[in-house]
Amino acid sequence: MTAGSLSCNDIQVSFSGLKAVNGVTFDFQPGQLYGIIGPNGAGKTTLMNALSGHAKLSGGQVMLDGRDVTGLSVHKRTRIGLGRSFQITKIFAGMSVLENLQLAAFAHLYRLQPFWLPAGRFPAVRERAESVLEEIGLTVMAHRPAETLSHGDQRALEVGLALLSNPSVLLLDEPLAGVGHDQIGPAMELIKRIVKGRTVLLIEHNMDVVMRVSSALVVMVQGQILASGSLKKSAQTPRCERLIWEKRNEAACVGKLQCHLWQGAGVA
Ligand SMILES: Nc1ncnc2c1ncn2[C@@H]1O[C@H](COP(=O)(O)OP(=O)(O)O)[C@@H](O)[C@H]1O
Ligand SMILES: [Mg+2]
Repeated sequence: MTAGSLSCNDIQVSFSGLKAVNGVTFDFQPGQLYGIIGPNGAGKTTLMNALSGHAKLSGGQVMLDGRDVTGLSVHKRTRIGLGRSFQITKIFAGMSVLENLQLAAFAHLYRLQPFWLPAGRFPAVRERAESVLEEIGLTVMAHRPAETLSHGDQRALEVGLALLSNPSVLLLDEPLAGVGHDQIGPAMELIKRIVKGRTVLLIEHNMDVVMRVSSALVVMVQGQILASGSLKKSAQTPRCERLIWEKRNEAACVGKLQCHLWQGAGVA
């Protein structure tokens, strides 16, 4: 089994009767970047929570590299290759960029919270944190308090926290949320850089970004996958982008979008 394969079989997550994820079955192939799109409330974040272990399933299975991880905690899933970043940044504002990474690296490498210990005293922690710092392009900001970073750089740091465990599968929930227009380009470059050799699920509302970085699309509506398909180069046309953009918040129109895109305009 190639590292980085993630599957779910008929997974369900309910909140007081509301079926936020309602029977999703899908095989995410190693090395692909899946743009997960769909209207607000479609269940995209809950699907990610179900895959990462943050949401309790009311049915179904999650498999990572052929292993049933349904009953495993978030931490165990992280250790065997699943990384996750959140829609709301979870960084420590008062700590420096490097300290944030060192703290998370310590927790990952030693399975402990460092409490009062300076995590950076451990060579393995330093090495891992510095490697990720470089990967996310924030080396020059290593000693800046995280709270003084631009919003875009804070989002990059949040992605960096997910990279510390060197995951083969990376789940990114709106990594560009709130990023200013002038920082979209660098943020997109970061995503392109970190996806190499990984399977990535990317929830993103900016369709320009989705179309540029994804190799496949998954459309979710009302807790289900309505359509999916790999993106051909020809799909990256203004017409397709405009169509998706226009239809993205209209659940009823996603079916039409499926017809337009999947049959005629570049999605196989
Ligand atoms: N913790 C929760 N408690 C109750 N309802 C929730 C919770 N999380 C999500 N929901 C509901 O589940 C549905 C799917 O939400 P979500 O997965 O956040 O959608 P999306 O990420 O596609 O916008 C929505 O109706 C939302 O209100
Ligand atoms: Mg969401």
